[in-house]
Amino acid sequence: MASTSPETSPLDRLDTSALPRHLAVIMDGNGRWAKSKGWRRVRGHEEGAESVRVVVRSCRKLGLEALTLYAFSEENWARPKAEVEALMRLLGRFLKSERQEMIDRGIRLRASGSVERLPAKTRQLLEQIMADTAQGEHMVLNLALSYGGRQELVRAARRLAVKAVAGKLSPDDIGEAELENELYTVGLPQVDLLIRTSGELRVSNFLLWQIAYAEFYFTDTYWPDFREEELAKALMAFGGRERRFGQTGEQLKGDDA
Ligand code: IPE
Ligand code: IPE
Ligand code: MG
Repeated sequence: MASTSPETSPLDRLDTSALPRHLAVIMDGNGRWAKSKGWRRVRGHEEGAESVRVVVRSCRKLGLEALTLYAFSEENWARPKAEVEALMRLLGRFLKSERQEMIDRGIRLRASGSVERLPAKTRQLLEQIMADTAQGEHMVLNLALSYGGRQELVRAARRLAVKAVAGKLSPDDIGEAELENELYTVGLPQVDLLIRTSGELRVSNFLLWQIAYAEFYFTDTYWPDFREEELAKALMAFGGRERRFGQTGEQLKGDDA
């Protein structure tokens, strides 16, 4: 009986013709999840890493092109040193444990953010696994690490200025495509769906340019509890949205009289 089989996933019920190409997630609420159980915050990050595994695997199975996960913001460097160190340790552990699966499943790892701020060992591991998975053709897993949307835009402006000063680019030729070329996310589709967990209703400096026309989905669920069922709910909600991109609903239905 398929309905009681352990193989059955809530994701199997989704209409695969209405999925996002690029999903981005602000994985929030690890600390509160742990505190609500009387545990240390780090326990929440550990359990959150398990949600990352589940969501990556699910998105790959569903055939999404890109998944961007906000793992650590520029602003998160201001957290207590012990928590930052624990997060870096967990990141290293995650990268090591997922390496083979990413290779086997054709997942290409990328990073967005000022990764030069990461501890040298973590950065080397990250670069090694990005190289090891570079041939992956099925999905891009883009980890936002030491990432800030404003910092990314400043960096892009600076890179454009360098090209202009070198005479390689005329200011008149700077358009959206040229700016996009200088972003960490170059080559990825625009974000179609942005999910934020834990009940906070803000963007927290995530992908400011890339979410211009994203659909937003907020849930009170803390990130460590965000598993297949929750992902299916978010994707189902996305499937029901009418994306008008500035046009009228009538125009989209081909009835613009
Ligand atoms: C998200 O969970 C993980 C990171 C920001 C690294 P939090 O650690 O922000 O958890 P809360 O928001 O304090 O509950
Ligand atoms: C955003 O969460 C960053 C990540 C999920 C990595 P925060 O918990 O840092 O955001 P604020 O401080 O609540 O805005
Ligand atoms: Mg938080």
